[in-house]
Amino acid sequence: MEYRFNETLKTIPPSASLAIGEKAKALKAAGVDLITLATGEPDFDTPDAARIAGIKAIAEGHTHYTESRGIKPLREGIARMLKEDCGIACDASNILMAPGGKYAIYETVRTLINPNAGEEVMILNPCWVSYAPIVMAAGGVPVGVGLSFKDNYRINRDILESCVTDKTRLLIINYPTNPTGCVLSREEAEILADFAIAHDVLVLADEVYGRIVYDGAENVSLASIERAADHVITINGFSKCVAMTGWRLGYLCAPKEIVDMVQMLNQHTISCLSDISMEAALAALDCKEEMDEMVESYRRRRDFFVEGLNSIPGVTCHLPKGAFYAWAKMDIGGRSSQEVASYLLEEARVATVPGDAYGLGGESCVRMSFATAEKDLREALRRMDEAIRKINK
Ligand SMILES: Cc1ncc(COP(=O)(O)O)c(C=O)c1O
Repeated sequence: MEYRFNETLKTIPPSASLAIGEKAKALKAAGVDLITLATGEPDFDTPDAARIAGIKAIAEGHTHYTESRGIKPLREGIARMLKEDCGIACDASNILMAPGGKYAIYETVRTLINPNAGEEVMILNPCWVSYAPIVMAAGGVPVGVGLSFKDNYRINRDILESCVTDKTRLLIINYPTNPTGCVLSREEAEILADFAIAHDVLVLADEVYGRIVYDGAENVSLASIERAADHVITINGFSKCVAMTGWRLGYLCAPKEIVDMVQMLNQHTISCLSDISMEAALAALDCKEEMDEMVESYRRRRDFFVEGLNSIPGVTCHLPKGAFYAWAKMDIGGRSSQEVASYLLEEARVATVPGDAYGLGGESCVRMSFATAEKDLREALRRMDEAIRKINK
């Protein structure tokens, strides 16, 4: 039987970070002493209160279908938190739960883009590996907006203007940024707000790392800028900020008209989230102390790891202000980012993700997660230092 597949899906590249992760796992299974800094997952377990709430939910029979938007107390709690922590004016009717931030992004793009009509989605680069494939899967055309390492990826109006066309429907931003750790300053948020309004372009603001910021850095939520609020869909979730990756808990916050349309997809694709997960999420909203402890632990690891990277000849790493990734430029004998990652894998036995997996602006860069045990981070630094000094004397 010759199978026929959707032509669009056939053009989508596999996830580079998952591919590296799998290669690393296979090497480890074959007995190679490998340290992997490639995965993007907190190394904490879900806080006890949330786990117990999940167990209690099972015991009490929360095992049925629920509202497709997500249970109301959870949506109310999220709306309250977004108002208090991010300055976003919203209530439960603006919130739609989804099984992971990733699916919330897909649903949003799918709802806003007419497939195969040449509609464009601008994406600030470097960026998370899944945005362009999600846009393609929804039948849109991804357009990378290349920010530059030398300016520490600051947004300017000119670069936005150079990429917008009359086909542009959406702009995707992500702050704190995976992979660079940049946060959104007020000045940049104002530029984005002006741009969105001037071109009548919607902005999908992915803030899944929003709670993970260091040294009191301000990460502005674009939807908190009142004049632009009706142009913004905020994406967030419980995976990164409270270590709940496996519970699949994401959400979007948007003008009600958009929420009502996206929730049609919830109804016909997932029906609803697991009620058990949502009960656990309700408890997780109160785990602020645990979340702060996680951030403090990432900060300590970030500080020595980034300092260690910058002491290796040819390596430059800006101090990330948010998320848990070190994004380092490695000038190693003119190697491309793929070649740098391969060199580190073979010579140092350290798995990293090559910068070009993140679109434009990642030349000779690699991404390393410091949500990794301290002893592994220290050993990875030692190994990378030794391997790179063989070339950079
Ligand atoms: C920038 C960014 N957005 C969204 C997600 C999706 O997270 P989840 O679907 O677990 O909520 C990730 C996960 O790696 C991410 O890095």
